[in-house]
Amino acid sequence: MLPEINFEITGKDGLARTAKFKTPHGVIETPTILPVINPNIQTLSIDEMVSLGAQAFITNSYIIRRNEKLRERAEKHGVHALIGFEGPIMTDSGTFQSHVYSDVEYTNLEIVEFQRKIGSDISTILDIFSEPDFSHEKAEYAVNETYSRMSEIPQGVEDTILAGPIQGSVYNDLRKKSAELMSSSQAGYLPIGGVVPLLENYRYDTLVDIIINSKLNASFSKPVHLFGGGHPMFLSMAVLLGVDVFDSASYVKYARDDRMLFSDGSRDLSRISTLPRWSPLYGKFSVKEIRELNAEDRKKALSLHNLAAIFNELHEIRERIFQQTLWQYVETKARSHPYLFKAYKRILEYSDILEKYEDLSKKSTFFYFDRYTDQTPYVRRLRRFSDHVKNNSREPVILGDEHWHPGRPHEKGIKSAYENSDRPFFLKWQNMLIPLELDETYPVEQIISAGGDNIPAEETTTLQDVAVSETKLRDFDIDRVRTIADYQFGFGVGRKLFPDCTEVTRSRNTGRIRGIFLDGKLLATLRAHDGFFTLTIEGARKLKDACEAPLHRVSVTDDSAEFNGKGFNVFFKFITSNDESIIAGNEVLVVNSRDELVAVGKSVVSGKEIKYFRSGVAVKVHKGIMQGEEKISDSD
Ligand code: GUN
Repeated sequence: MLPEINFEITGKDGLARTAKFKTPHGVIETPTILPVINPNIQTLSIDEMVSLGAQAFITNSYIIRRNEKLRERAEKHGVHALIGFEGPIMTDSGTFQSHVYSDVEYTNLEIVEFQRKIGSDISTILDIFSEPDFSHEKAEYAVNETYSRMSEIPQGVEDTILAGPIQGSVYNDLRKKSAELMSSSQAGYLPIGGVVPLLENYRYDTLVDIIINSKLNASFSKPVHLFGGGHPMFLSMAVLLGVDVFDSASYVKYARDDRMLFSDGSRDLSRISTLPRWSPLYGKFSVKEIRELNAEDRKKALSLHNLAAIFNELHEIRERIFQQTLWQYVETKARSHPYLFKAYKRILEYSDILEKYEDLSKKSTFFYFDRYTDQTPYVRRLRRFSDHVKNNSREPVILGDEHWHPGRPHEKGIKSAYENSDRPFFLKWQNMLIPLELDETYPVEQIISAGGDNIPAEETTTLQDVAVSETKLRDFDIDRVRTIADYQFGFGVGRKLFPDCTEVTRSRNTGRIRGIFLDGKLLATLRAHDGFFTLTIEGARKLKDACEAPLHRVSVTDDSAEFNGKGFNVFFKFITSNDESIIAGNEVLVVNSRDELVAVGKSVVSGKEIKYFRSGVAVKVHKGIMQGEEKISDSD
């Protein structure tokens, strides 16, 4: 068994996550950046950097080793004493120096052994840097050689986490191969390497390809690091695509050139008039005073400002993950620079893949800006469903602005028109027709839209045009719960889950559907916050009958099944197989080795991610088969 890095996810928003992991010298909470420390020149003090938010640092073992004094001190007292920091320290191997100056005089084994000896918390192998302009053949050599260098490190190293860089230049197939190889190796930490030239040239669109192809083929239970990716402009996009850690010397490099970092780009000291209030320089210096400082003091002052800009941005990103609004943040931020916008458009090309990692719903309202929002994962998910319903129905009734606005329930008179008609009803929104039955379900209920409708007005139907029968032909509530079930579990499931004699009860507080019953037994409740179902055991049984294995299932060992049947959560390590199409946050059926239902709960991660984790809770069980019958609380 490979050593487990204890990577614990504390929050997620699509591929982005907040997490923490242990190193021998303490915990690192992600997403974060490791400021680069040059052991020869320390521009900012450790205390200054810690006070801005630094939890860990990265330094270069190659530079330490080739300098006799530094080497002696590090070997005698350790890298922590050398740097003057007792928290986590990562060391790099000299790959970059070897690549730029072609003069690294140590072997891979020697430099890794040296990093362990000086007590590094995360040690990097001597990987082969793959330049963006490498031929496929040359880049493939870098991937293979880097992997064989990881393989030659003796197994069972416990005192340091090994970083195994993912190389492969701009070739998607090679990034995939490298990510798979490194994930299967003893590397507990996965930096994406060979990207500094792209970052320096603002080639963020190419970086999007590289990050996605690396990340989606890497183990989700290991932190992913972007080597050199420390400009605040690009941090949110990289985190959106699943990068957990960054390192950067940019705070000093830009300062050296009298350049100041901001969340949306960099500005020349000579061309600014005021300092932002968040800057640590604000109130201490005027812009003029900074310009007049001597070169060394100016570099120090601007480094402090630049590092604060980086940590400010990370702070905002962490909060966005908590709020689950990172995508909106990136969407807004993309407009701040054409290169970011180009990169954002590239991200949208991967929308169908990224959708697989998005939760069933988010905590936040859904912002619709313009036609680019059409290509975001939640709109695509909704459109796919809506188009399918529309293509399988005849003569739709199309309700326009006069009957419905995004984010609000439909007009009152609609329900009786619906029930006395046999035509399908749709809400017209942007260039999409959404089934009326979804108007209280995420994201439809929570859309805040900038408008910009592009369906011609004459396409909408006025209610007078809907030929209505004298008598009730169907029940809107039943159709609503069936359509939601189809959206949540797949087409055709709604009818099987909720037969004609299904009954609903309403919440006394909101008037909305709350419980769904069959023969007096509760099958499901509709959640107030997102309009999706929570299933009872009865409901789960019906879902299981409606869907063949492995759909919606997580299979567990029979030992675990006994516990889960009593209502205890499912841990990753007891899962033997699962449906890969499970959506994070959706209901899942917990089954034993004979595909017998033992519990029902909510999946913490997507079906694609489950296999990567060994520790932690995979399914939050809300009911086991051994527990009593379920009652509904009318609390909301
Ligand atoms: N620093 C910047 N890029 C790289 C890389 O590709 N590999 C290593 N080891 N360090 C880096």
